[in-house]
Amino acid sequence: MEDMRKEILYSREQIDRRVTELAAEISRDYAGRELVVIGVLKGAFVFMADLIRRLGIPCIIDFARLASYGAGAVSSGRIAITKDIEMEIRDRDVLIVEDIVDTGLTLSYLVRTFQERGPRSLKVCAFLDKRMRRQVSFEADYVGFTLDDGFVIGYGLDFNEKARFFPDVYIVTNL
Ligand code: IMP
Ligand code: MG
Repeated sequence: MEDMRKEILYSREQIDRRVTELAAEISRDYAGRELVVIGVLKGAFVFMADLIRRLGIPCIIDFARLASYGAGAVSSGRIAITKDIEMEIRDRDVLIVEDIVDTGLTLSYLVRTFQERGPRSLKVCAFLDKRMRRQVSFEADYVGFTLDDGFVIGYGLDFNEKARFFPDVYIVTNL
């Protein structure tokens, strides 16, 4: 961590503008409805906090936590829910908010699991979409920023639990 080299990839101003745009788009799409926003812990909590405060529609929130076995930069592919949502989502309009789509394994698992509970609608909003490392085809409905590859930290995203609190997003240049 101490000798980690990093460069700003998205500044707090860029993030602020993009989150405002996303919130406007979501608010238009769900006009007149109440949204159930489900954050994926821990990474999504910063993005979700900013996003819901810019929505022009009412929402209620809940959180889920998943484990993909293996810590660090690479996920192993075995996913499990370690903390489920506490809310009933049947017949509700549900928006999953996640920090990043990488292999796609986490979100495709979560979408499949929640779909079985009979929501009225189910969409995904990801702050970042890392395109190059997909193992399963998965497209988020709303995406903040798209990048090809690389390890990113800050704005909720961690490297072994560090760096979540950085207000900007950095790319690690010496991994
Ligand atoms: P995947 O799409 O199932 O591979 O998993 C995505 C999860 O891996 C995210 O929710 C992040 O927690 C983590 N992750 C993937 N890439 C990065 C990164 O560049 N920085 C920080 N966390 C990442
Ligand atoms: Mg995560």
